[in-house]
Amino acid sequence: MNNLPKYIDIHSHILPGLDDGPKDFESSLAILRLAAENQIGTIICTPHYKEGISGPPEMIDEAIEKLNLLIAIQGLEIKLHSGNEIYYTETALLALESGRAKTLAASDFVLVEFAPWAKWEDLLEGLFNLKSSGFVPILAHAERYECLTKGREEQKRVPIIRDYGIQIQINAEAVMEKTKFTKYLLKNGLADFVATDTHSNRRRGPYIKNCSTYLTKKYGAEYAGRLLYENARKLL
Ligand SMILES: [Fe+2]
Repeated sequence: MNNLPKYIDIHSHILPGLDDGPKDFESSLAILRLAAENQIGTIICTPHYKEGISGPPEMIDEAIEKLNLLIAIQGLEIKLHSGNEIYYTETALLALESGRAKTLAASDFVLVEFAPWAKWEDLLEGLFNLKSSGFVPILAHAERYECLTKGREEQKRVPIIRDYGIQIQINAEAVMEKTKFTKYLLKNGLADFVATDTHSNRRRGPYIKNCSTYLTKKYGAEYAGRLLYENARKLL
């Protein structure tokens, strides 16, 4: 054990059989071992929530309970919390208010995604809709939306939504691709969370160490810390 702060991963598909993440508990454990190697100490489990497709929220709690048992048996130092990555539709708010869809770690923060080709007006309306109902929307993998990334004018929309209290999450993988968009966000302090969006122990895995080194070197230890654990502490 060292004294370095452990990373908090707020976007992760590690619960078995609930979405396009791992199929069984053995595969979930393989991901968790890799996460531990990457100094990840807390994971918010965010299976996809799609209206009419996703199962009841109790399935998430049951999977976490079972996985916690396996974590203890394996002696891994990882804490799990429940959540969802909610695909925004007109009924998303109702799903949240009725408890069918989960906020992050039972906080007011909501991880929300849209179609990559979503129109700016629709993205804005969805985020505002959640915000004005008392939730704090975190836009999942902001690097995926054409209406934000396409050009300079589109990029300027990010500070607009942030000014309204919307938070921005980008994937560690996207940070390492060093695109114009992620560099623009990081240079201007416009990203709030870097998370892994883990789906397996191979591609899109819980790889955060290299990203942390890069962020610290390029954007400073203070901002890297905020992106990788400090801001996430507010949710727990
Ligand atoms: Fe995701």
